Amino acid sequence: MSDKQYPQSWMMPKNLSFDTYNVLQAVPDKYIGYFDIVHIRFIMGGLKGPEDMAVVIENVSKMLKPGGYVQWQDVYRPGWQVIDQMLSVDVGDEKLPPFLAKFDEAVKGSLDRTLSRTLHHLMKGSDDFADLEMMVPGVLPWLLKYETDYLAIALAEMLKASRGTRAVGEESFRLLDEAEALLQDYLAQGGLLTYKTMVVVARKDDGA
Ligand SMILES: C[S@@+](CC[C@H](N)C(=O)[O-])C[C@H]1O[C@@H](n2cnc3c(N)ncnc32)[C@H](O)[C@@H]1O
Repeated sequence: MSDKQYPQSWMMPKNLSFDTYNVLQAVPDKYIGYFDIVHIRFIMGGLKGPEDMAVVIENVSKMLKPGGYVQWQDVYRPGWQVIDQMLSVDVGDEKLPPFLAKFDEAVKGSLDRTLSRTLHHLMKGSDDFADLEMMVPGVLPWLLKYETDYLAIALAEMLKASRGTRAVGEESFRLLDEAEALLQDYLAQGGLLTYKTMVVVARKDDGA
């Protein structure tokens, strides 16, 4: 194995460095009150639910300077969003489409527990942040074919992986098969999918 480190120092501007940190662990002293901006994207898959999200919010607050900003983009329930013929996303529609509802049944509600509908509510509820804005990015029609394909593949992978992990027993396997069939029906009818996300921006309150 090569002992070379990437990226190598000559590849990077002098004022840039990389580090790793499990954001559910205590913030290292050197990063307390250190950042003007913290940007987070798509970490929800690694969090167990609102309790973990609350820990992340608390730690981000510790890392920011007063008046600094957090921008957090992540999956917004139901994630796999079916879209209407006008190619618009119903922002308020948090209902799981039939194939996801079936999947959730197979894994005994664990999808329901992980999918966030709470990020903006949790941020709003935090005394540490002010000027919160939340938006749901719109559909990009020219990407829809690609988005549908990759979301269908991702879901098929999740269904497959669940057979060895979260779905246990014949009954669950049968529900997974039904979920797969419902997805295929939807796709066969020309149904389209988009990945529904939300972006939350907030300022660390400095009392101003
Ligand atoms: C779907 S990838 C997203 C990667 C990248 N942020 C992006 O938006 O393209 C999920 C990322 O979340 C990170 N993640 C999950 N839980 C984390 C945690 N507790 N602390 C730090 N990173 C975490 C993983 O390391 C992984 O890189």
